[in-house]
Amino acid sequence: MRGAALLLLALGLQQAEGRCVFNRTQEYCLCYRLTEQSAGSVIQCLAASAVEFQGGDLEKYADFPIKDLDDSTIDMLGSLEIRKIIFSDLLVPEVLLARVLRFFSYTQVQEMVFDSCSFVGRSSWADMAGRALPITSLRFHNVTAAELAGRKQDLSPLSRWLGALQELSVTASHLATLPCAVGRALRALRSLDLAHNSLRDDSLAPAFCRGAFTQLRVLSLRHNNLTSYRAVCGGVRLLGELRHLDLSHNALTAGTPSSSCRWPETLRVFNLSNAGLDEVLTPLPPGLEVLDLSSNRLHTVDVSLRSLQALLLGRNALPAAPSIRGCPALRTLHLDNNLIAELPRDEVPLLERLQDVAAAGNPFNCTCTGAAVLQALAAAGRLGQGWPQGYVCHAPARYRGVLLRDVPASVLHCSPAAVLAPVCAGLALLCVAVAGGLLWVRRARPSWVCGLGRREDACSSAERL
Ligand SMILES: *[C@@H]1O[C@H](CO)[C@@H](O)[C@H](O)[C@H]1NC(C)=O
Ligand SMILES: *[C@@H]1O[C@H](CO)[C@@H](O)[C@H](O)[C@H]1NC(C)=O
Ligand SMILES: *[C@@H]1O[C@H](CO)[C@@H](O)[C@H](O)[C@H]1NC(C)=O
Ligand SMILES: *[C@@H]1O[C@H](CO)[C@@H](O)[C@H](O)[C@H]1NC(C)=O
Ligand SMILES: *[C@@H]1O[C@H](CO)[C@@H](O)[C@H](O)[C@H]1NC(C)=O
Repeated sequence: MRGAALLLLALGLQQAEGRCVFNRTQEYCLCYRLTEQSAGSVIQCLAASAVEFQGGDLEKYADFPIKDLDDSTIDMLGSLEIRKIIFSDLLVPEVLLARVLRFFSYTQVQEMVFDSCSFVGRSSWADMAGRALPITSLRFHNVTAAELAGRKQDLSPLSRWLGALQELSVTASHLATLPCAVGRALRALRSLDLAHNSLRDDSLAPAFCRGAFTQLRVLSLRHNNLTSYRAVCGGVRLLGELRHLDLSHNALTAGTPSSSCRWPETLRVFNLSNAGLDEVLTPLPPGLEVLDLSSNRLHTVDVSLRSLQALLLGRNALPAAPSIRGCPALRTLHLDNNLIAELPRDEVPLLERLQDVAAAGNPFNCTCTGAAVLQALAAAGRLGQGWPQGYVCHAPARYRGVLLRDVPASVLHCSPAAVLAPVCAGLALLCVAVAGGLLWVRRARPSWVCGLGRREDACSSAERL
């Protein structure tokens, strides 16, 4: 109980207004603008696994004396259930923060979030001296703070007390630079999310300098001010463990053609969605397994990557499906919302090897063959999302607006050549003979050929086309 009050004291919240509300089902406690009178309600939070302190101005407590803890308080802090602490809508003097965080070094808090907070002033973090914070995840969202640049001295103790940190995110916080010292301090960091900031091409090389973020696996630079593909490549090339890079929502062009660059060879997942691309930029990381190029303005795609498992091309301007011959490991191909009228027949055996094909939202030409390829994929359970509602015919006129599923078509019934062509690839002579024979039959006895089909209209439409 004394410890709880102390925790509160440390947070400098005892004179705000409000109270704490504990939600037992969620094990979540929200403390909203606590007052001296309502401060006791924080006791409810002792059983919570997540506590949020919301609203208030801590500036007046910047010089608040915080004494050292006695042994019983330290024991109490160590026995708390709290694993996650969220601070939101707060004005925090950085000096106070450094001192308060010291208390958390005695707890088992693993995750700390600062949402819509303003840090004012500067702190040297010397108050953390000798203590390590056990947290593995630290998030800042929509925060403002004194400029980080030129604070090497201030930041150097970081590595000592954040040595265990694995995940850091600083999002929507107008971040324009990240000093080399930060990356060198955060040696254990696995994941860094810097989305929705103001990072530019030339911010990257200093941030990801030699010896920085040596363990980093996942990096998100989504929604920043990056413009040059090659400059970004140069900026992250020292990240020797990087597996997942997200560059989505930047306006990228190729950049200076003279500069060549090699992406980290460890890169497996590359997100270039919504990157303003009208061509696939090169070089691509050779070991990629997932390539997301969706929501660009691509007209052609020619990708050959031996290990590629997923190629995401939805929401582009592709007039035809790309060849996937150069990607033998491919399992997922998304082509939704392009300008594709039909899937190439000669790629059907390849497409059938895939587990997940998505092609909804294309202007399908539902002549027998066009429809049949997709119906075959659907029958084989390969069409994932969007089937059948998203697959609508645009042509021929008589099927406009009809669901592709409902087009009475089967390759065999309406166009023997369509099926025979791939089969006969190696048997050209036989093929000519058979096709010639069928042509003769068809010309002589059209009604007999159509009789093979279950539905007369499939035949007649095929004949007309
Ligand atoms: C606790 O949270 C659950 C899920 O959000 C909600 O349904 C419930 O009403 C909350 N209980 C209280 C006492 O606020
Ligand atoms: C960001 O934080 C400020 C306070 O620092 C707040 O006024 C604003 O509403 C927040 N914006 C969003 C989008 O949350
Ligand atoms: C980032 O880009 C946005 C929009 O393109 C622009 O308004 C802003 O000024 C840029 N910021 C920086 C730091 O360049
Ligand atoms: C790529 O980023 C977009 C948004 O920026 C996201 O919706 C999508 O899921 C990401 N793709 C992958 C493969 O993670
Ligand atoms: C649809 O495909 C048929 C057969 O391949 C072709 O003759 C026709 O011109 C195509 N229609 C459109 C609108 O592309």
